[in-house]
Amino acid sequence: MPNSTFADDEYQKFRRFLEKQSGIVLGDNKQYLVRSRLAPLMGKYDLPSISHVIKRSMEPTERQLRLDAIDAMTTNETLWFRDRYPFELLVKQVLPEMDAKKAPIKVWSAACSSGQEPYSIGMSILEYQQQKANSFGRGITVTATDLSSTMLERCAQAEYDSLALARGLSEERKRQFFDDLPSGNMKVKPKVRSLVNFRSHNLLESYSILGKFDVIFCRNVLIYFSAEAKANILRQFAAALNPNGILFLGASESITGLTDEFDMIRCNPGIFYRKK
Ligand SMILES: C[S@@+](CC[C@H](N)C(=O)[O-])C[C@H]1O[C@@H](n2cnc3c(N)ncnc32)[C@H](O)[C@@H]1O
Repeated sequence: MPNSTFADDEYQKFRRFLEKQSGIVLGDNKQYLVRSRLAPLMGKYDLPSISHVIKRSMEPTERQLRLDAIDAMTTNETLWFRDRYPFELLVKQVLPEMDAKKAPIKVWSAACSSGQEPYSIGMSILEYQQQKANSFGRGITVTATDLSSTMLERCAQAEYDSLALARGLSEERKRQFFDDLPSGNMKVKPKVRSLVNFRSHNLLESYSILGKFDVIFCRNVLIYFSAEAKANILRQFAAALNPNGILFLGASESITGLTDEFDMIRCNPGIFYRKK
């Protein structure tokens, strides 16, 4: 019978380790979360207890177990066109401005989870292009990144079940942007998929390999990080943005007290940030 108990000092060590590796800060009493999220790794790695999973995942030689443990601790909640207004602002305000640059445009969905955010951006771009023929003549691409390899596999598969499809997609968008599969699931059409490139990236590491961007979406991930990690990430976003570049954060996230490198642009409804 697998043993799912572990000592408080193990929990404290694992918390520090997780924050250092991923930025994710666990509260004082989140032992239950560690227990439920790491439990499947006992079977996968044939370990007799959560305590073994915790100890082994922190050993430098156990690279794959470490990655799996961090992956398991990520929260991947997401939906299509989440909060609606960022995508409306994208189409009404941001894409016309980007189109006017007459240059290749790069959008980054940082911490993209199972793909709903970058594919929603892709669909928004196609809807804009339907209204405005010959737009983005120099090309527009979406780079989507996440720390979780499980999520990146789902993104690449681009297949969604009825539960996921029911969260934020209109019938019209399903018809336009998805193909039916024999299983009853739906797959994102190639015209949307071809706009999006997925890659593995940890927001705590350097961003220089990703190049420069015109628009960054980083939504509903900074809430899990310390103020220090948030400030570092925002500093790196400012460096990764082209002049006047735009940043969208989650509805409950703000830059107050963390950076002075962005102006807040209030729209009605919603806000975004512009690099100064
Ligand atoms: C709650 S989801 C947000 C998804 C999407 N942006 C949205 O708003 O719907 C948070 C995502 O952040 C990812 N994540 C957590 N820590 C990360 C890190 N250090 N670097 C990159 N991604 C990370 C998780 O794997 C997860 O997929």
